[in-house]
Amino acid sequence: MTFISSDPRLSKKQLFYRAGFVFILIIAITALHYLTLREEAIRHLVYRELYFLPIILLGLWFGLGGGIIASLLITVLYIPSIPSWSSSALMEHNLGYFLEIVLFNIVGPLVGWLRNREFQLSREKCEAEHLASMGQAVSCIAHDMKTPLTAIGGFIYQARKRLSSPARADERLTLAGKQVKRMERMILDMLAFAKPLNLECKPEPLSDLIRDTVTTVAGKAHHHQIRLQVEIEEDSQTILRCDRHRLQQGLMNLLVNAIEASPPHGVVTIRGLTMKKEVWIEVIDQGKGIPAEERQKILQPFITTKRGGTGLGLPIVNKVITAHAGRLEINNNPPAGTLFRLRLPENMPA
Ligand SMILES: Nc1ncnc2c1ncn2[C@@H]1O[C@H](COP(=O)(O)OP(=O)(O)OP(=O)(O)O)[C@@H](O)[C@H]1O
Ligand SMILES: [Mg+2]
Repeated sequence: MTFISSDPRLSKKQLFYRAGFVFILIIAITALHYLTLREEAIRHLVYRELYFLPIILLGLWFGLGGGIIASLLITVLYIPSIPSWSSSALMEHNLGYFLEIVLFNIVGPLVGWLRNREFQLSREKCEAEHLASMGQAVSCIAHDMKTPLTAIGGFIYQARKRLSSPARADERLTLAGKQVKRMERMILDMLAFAKPLNLECKPEPLSDLIRDTVTTVAGKAHHHQIRLQVEIEEDSQTILRCDRHRLQQGLMNLLVNAIEASPPHGVVTIRGLTMKKEVWIEVIDQGKGIPAEERQKILQPFITTKRGGTGLGLPIVNKVITAHAGRLEINNNPPAGTLFRLRLPENMPA
């Protein structure tokens, strides 16, 4: 763990504001100290205790390093306000100041250390849970693969026995081919989910990206009697820095889900727009919707309500978007249906 370990859930901007806030707090308390007459002992006592606030905050937000920096900085700022150390009459008083400085230098590092330890433990817990879910994934896949494999074995056996009647053999072999395809898809999904994503980002026109993806699912939409509607701002010149292949893979998963969730003759809309400094891609359907309490759950691997589904579609989308420093939102599409929104930064950090 590094000396200053900030909370990874906070953005650089948030950390900057927090550090600024604590710095101003320290300056304000120090100013109060120096602007108050020495005789006003009670007020000084209150200001001295106030120093614990920035110490604890820096320890919590920046770990051990933050705690140490805060205690040392406050010690340096505080020492000049202590009455002369040599005055024997003030010796008892000075002991209080001295102990307070010792406390500053214990509390800061202690809070920071405890925060670091808590982070370390929760990271280890996360890794353990991840490993467990991967183990569960592998066993689920193996289980799912067993059935089509057994079927393939059976079909091929029957086909071979019926070679005297080529038409029936062909029918069986076609079924075998379908099962093989299913297995291939499961394995590809599994790999896409389990493998670390090494993005190859390039500037891509948003409009091309969306239109190309729509073309890939046009056949499926037609089969389900769904109309695909593309909405992109006219003369849109939006360029998105992204890994085209991965992003299209994610969009395709959303479109396939939307098509599968829609009633016949429904409309699935895919919309691309720029909003503040973000690019939004929305996939909207008129299906039965997803209850609010289910929305987090379906981002977990292997959660599916479909017979042939692997439940890896949305986890893959989420993974791809997170790798692009974006996020996935799931909302209602009144009066019926769901709106999936990919929010991507216009200029993805390199
Ligand atoms: N647009 C949608 N409308 C309603 N429910 C949805 C929608 N998209 C996803 N879901 C629900 O979320 C579940 C998980 O979706 P996900 O894409 O992860 O897996 P899947 O579609 O079931 O299987 P796979 O994508 O692997 O074929 C789906 O089974 C479905 O119940
Ligand atoms: Mg899916």
